[in-house]
This record gives sequence, structure tokens and C-alpha cells, in this order.
Amino acid sequence: LSEVRGEGARKIGLISLNRPKQLNALNDQLMDELGHALLAFDADDGIGCIVLTGSEKAFAAGADIPVLAAHDHMSAFKNGLISSNWETILQVRKPVIAAVAGFALGGGCELAMMCDFIIAADTAKFGQPEIKLGVIPGAGGTQRLPRAVGKSKTMDMLLTSRMMDAAEAERANLVSRVVPAASLLDEALAAAQIICAMSGPAVMMIKELVNRSFEGPLRDAVQVERRMFHSLFGTSDQKEGMDAFMSKRKPEFKHGS
Ligand code: HXC
Repeated sequence: LSEVRGEGARKIGLISLNRPKQLNALNDQLMDELGHALLAFDADDGIGCIVLTGSEKAFAAGADIPVLAAHDHMSAFKNGLISSNWETILQVRKPVIAAVAGFALGGGCELAMMCDFIIAADTAKFGQPEIKLGVIPGAGGTQRLPRAVGKSKTMDMLLTSRMMDAAEAERANLVSRVVPAASLLDEALAAAQIICAMSGPAVMMIKELVNRSFEGPLRDAVQVERRMFHSLFGTSDQKEGMDAFMSKRKPEFKHGS
């Protein structure tokens, strides 16, 4: 869902992920629509800043697990599982603020981290729980999370699947600020409105430069991450982890044997 908000010469492009029944689980259709909405706002001279949000309960609970579950190693590799529509957001030259309430897990946390900064509701929960499904992050989580919160917390979260609440995420610098859930959207729109009034070229240059400091050598690592992610679709643990989630039971992993 995309709409224009705010006032003045340059307005805010607001995009809301809207698959509430599945906690905004991210599938190709949603990522295509998100990509189109982002590029349309980016191309629109009347838009100065973009806000990306989800619902009260979830920003996004990750990639759509039943879709992932249908893959094997070769289909993941050949079809480019997590196709380029996942990274359209990285082409956007105007700032994108993630306004996160509820769960931002797996691909949802990765999507939030691809935004320029994250404003969190006090209900936000961040995590990379892919290991519980027998796989690993596939959209930059192993690279962007340590850049934000450091190695120790990243290892803890990725290896144990532990989630971070909003207070911890703020302490760890994953988010720029935490606000009461009821005012999340207002706060994000207010920040976006301030940015809209700033000089557009200066805003775009700051975004480009800060991301250069952050993203530089990351692209290779993310590509390696993607290939390893694909390779796990050749294991029985991936089938077991995803089947267990969908059958609402505990997984019994065989550890690659
Ligand atoms: C598909 C999902 C989903 C997901 C939740 N749902 N997460 N469907 N893909 N990622 C669905 C549930 O099946 C359920 O559908 C409905 O949303 C509500 O979820 P519940 O589990 O009933 O809610 P709750 O008990 O509140 O638990 C919330 C939750 C849990 C903690 C977020 O849903 C959960 O653990 N989800 C999976 C999170 C995860 O593993 N994410 C990483 C995915 S892998 P029904 O039909 O039963 O009501 C990934 C890889 C990224 O992201 C790779 C690169 C992009």
C-alpha cells in the first residue's frame, strides 16, 4: 500500500507492507510491489523522503516459509531465490526510514536494515531466527547485523535465534530511536518531514556517502551468503525445519547427515 503524506513542496512517500494474516511474510509479489512503489516515489520530484512500515503486530516476520520450503538446492540457485526484487531498495537515492512495530524477523529484519535508519516502536522485536529452520540469513543479515550491533550480539542472535527487544536494539545501535507504539508512524513521518525540507541534493549525497562507508565490501560477502543460503536447500535439516514450522511441531535436525 503506498500513499503520499505530509505538507510543503516535497512530501513523504509512505509504504505499508500489508499481508497482515501472514504477519507480512515477504513473498515475490509483495517484494515486486514494494520495489515498484519505492522506484515510483524515488522518481517523483514531489517526494523528499520515504517511510516503510508494517502493521502493529509485525513489520515483517521474514521470507514466506511455505515458499522457501518448496525449494531444493538447484531451484534456489537457478531461480535466484531471493531474487533481485529484494534489493530494489538499495537503488533508491532518497532516504528510506523503516518504522518498525512488532516482529522484524529474518528477511524482515534484513529489509529494515537495508533502510537508511530504523525508528522502532517499544513493541519491536528484531531477530534472525533462520537457524531454527535449518538455514541462515539470505539477504544480508550476516553482514549488516554485525556492522550495526557488533560481532558478539550478532553471533548470539544468529546462533541461538534469540530476539532483541526495542530497548536492547536501541542500546546496540540497531535503531536510531524508540518511541511509544501509538506514536510510531507520527514520529517517523515527523522525521521524514524534516528531511523533506532539507536540500534534496545534500540529502541524497549524505545517504550515498554514509552507505558507502557501511556497504563497501559488503556486496561480495552478501553474494557468498546467498550461495550458502541456496546450498542449505540441499539438506534434510532445511526440509525438517520448515516442515516442522508448518506442522506446528519442534524440528528434529540430523545435522547434515
Ligand atoms: C509464512 C508466516 C511466517 C513466515 C508467520 N507466519 N511467520 N507464514 N512465513 N515467515 C504465519 C503463521 O504461520 C501463522 O499463520 C500466522 O502467520 C501467525 O503466526 P503465529 O506463529 O501464529 O503467531 P505468533 O504465535 O504470534 O508467533 C509470531 C512469530 C512466529 C514468532 C513471528 O510466527 C514465527 O516464528 N514466525 C517465523 C519467523 C521466522 O522464522 N522468520 C524467518 C523466515 S526465513 P496461520 O495460517 O497458522 O495463522 C527468512 C529467510 C530470509 O526470512 C532469507 C532471505 C530473505
